[in-house]
Amino acid sequence: MKIGEIDINIKMGDITEEKVDAIVNAANNTLLGGGGVDGAIHKKGGASILEQCKKHSGCPTGEARITTAGNLPSKYVIHAVGPIYGRTDSMDEILLYNAYTNSLKLAAEYNLKSISFPSISTGSYGYPIDAAVAIVKQALENFSKIKSTIMEINLIMFSNDNFKIYEDYFE
Ligand code: APR
Repeated sequence: MKIGEIDINIKMGDITEEKVDAIVNAANNTLLGGGGVDGAIHKKGGASILEQCKKHSGCPTGEARITTAGNLPSKYVIHAVGPIYGRTDSMDEILLYNAYTNSLKLAAEYNLKSISFPSISTGSYGYPIDAAVAIVKQALENFSKIKSTIMEINLIMFSNDNFKIYEDYFE
């Protein structure tokens, strides 16, 4: 489907296999790795990613930082920090919105064309997926109104349930 001029693809799969300009990591404030998507990206991407993460000395919730993708098939990793659901003094929605929007703006600053997102905050950060998907769509719709190099946004789901929820909501 399209949002504005941008192709939006919802796919099942492992984000570390995406051959795009940038994949987005569901990181934490330290940018020093963790489990889930974060663990998979650092494990497959290798030490060069962590070395560059350390130079950023952390990342506030709702913001994003860019590094090499190391051994991964993408060119860059954009590390975005989503909110821990219910722990942000009722700022959950805006912080999740910002995590997507700031990742897209950073990709556009680097003149990238294609970017793949996991479902940020909906794993160990506990964000209910059906609430998150509405925020994701709003962020993509608003970003599509800004002229940029981004032509393709992929939303990579790791479970059938999440895939179905995204498919239904976006269609
Ligand atoms: N590819 C795509 N999606 C994945 C992958 C993968 N390889 N691995 C996990 N996911 C999915 C999860 O199923 C979930 O739907 O990504 C979504 C986000 O889950 P988490 O990785 O737990 O991320 P998040 O909820 O944002 O929590 C971030 O977890 O791993 C730590 O260091 C990380 O502290 C941070 C926190």
